[in-house]
Amino acid sequence: VTPDYQADEVTLYHGDCRAVLPTLPGASFDLVFTDPPYPEIDRPYGRLTEAQWFDLMRAVVPEVRRVLKPKGSAVFVLQPNSERVGRMRTWLWDFLAWVGREWGIVQDAWWRNHNAMPCGGSNTHGLLRASLKACVWCGPPDCYRDQGKVLVPPNRRTPDRTRLQERKRELRSYPGGIAKDGLKILAASAQRGGATPFNVITVGGGSPPERRERRGHPAGTPIALCDWWLRYLCPPGGAVLDPFAGSGTTGVAALRQGKTFVGIEKESAYIDIARKRLAEVHGPLFAPREVTADG
Ligand SMILES: C[S@@+](CC[C@H](N)C(=O)[O-])C[C@H]1O[C@@H](n2cnc3c(N)ncnc32)[C@H](O)[C@@H]1O
Repeated sequence: VTPDYQADEVTLYHGDCRAVLPTLPGASFDLVFTDPPYPEIDRPYGRLTEAQWFDLMRAVVPEVRRVLKPKGSAVFVLQPNSERVGRMRTWLWDFLAWVGREWGIVQDAWWRNHNAMPCGGSNTHGLLRASLKACVWCGPPDCYRDQGKVLVPPNRRTPDRTRLQERKRELRSYPGGIAKDGLKILAASAQRGGATPFNVITVGGGSPPERRERRGHPAGTPIALCDWWLRYLCPPGGAVLDPFAGSGTTGVAALRQGKTFVGIEKESAYIDIARKRLAEVHGPLFAPREVTADG
């Protein structure tokens, strides 16, 4: 398959990822980060039944695994949904069980959208505001990760060394275990310049400027979420793949971090958006097919 747009650090394929993935070389990516379509949701790019969605994922996941380097891993962002108010669909948990059994989930991780709007019965039927998406992180147990790149920056809860001395006096009056552990945690985070991150990544759903930048993709992924996972799981200068690239947000994050990017997207309108966004970071992307046709 010929790439549709290419430059040194970035390649875009316009097509179904089920057709393109088998043409990519094995063991060639450090990270696959992707926000795929979800089943039973109406989108301008189509609606998949649960059965169609599983067919898609059963084709894509083994290919994703094949193209990853031995220490590479993949993150699939997935939002659960409901059959009707008060009855959730089980596809997310079925997927977790399947992929966990067949491949391996490194750790459960979740994205919390702190500005998710109340909807789907949360106001009218007294349900809770849905604000979590699963970040299904698959790979070998010893896959590459660098916690140092995603430490929670010091704040009032992670005092610097001077404030640590004051806190020591305070904490001594607590029951032994708590004081000891509390001190250990505070000392470790003061030394490392930040605290161990939680497995819930809190990122807003996309500011109006960010939505404008996506210029018409209806289900874009917040760049802060892509940025966080790419810093954590992709080594410096590494290679990132997104088989459901949409408006190219994963690619923008990759290029800004000095990493290379390959994106696959089936809708030409979104490929155009991705091409423009990536060109703004990278410089022009060429279209080999057009060049060949023009001679
Ligand atoms: C949730 S969106 C991805 C959003 C993207 N991360 C962004 O920020 O714009 C899912 C994308 O997958 C694309 N898609 C769905 N099925 C596909 C397939 N079989 N092959 C390639 N792309 C597909 C859709 O057109 C859609 O753009």
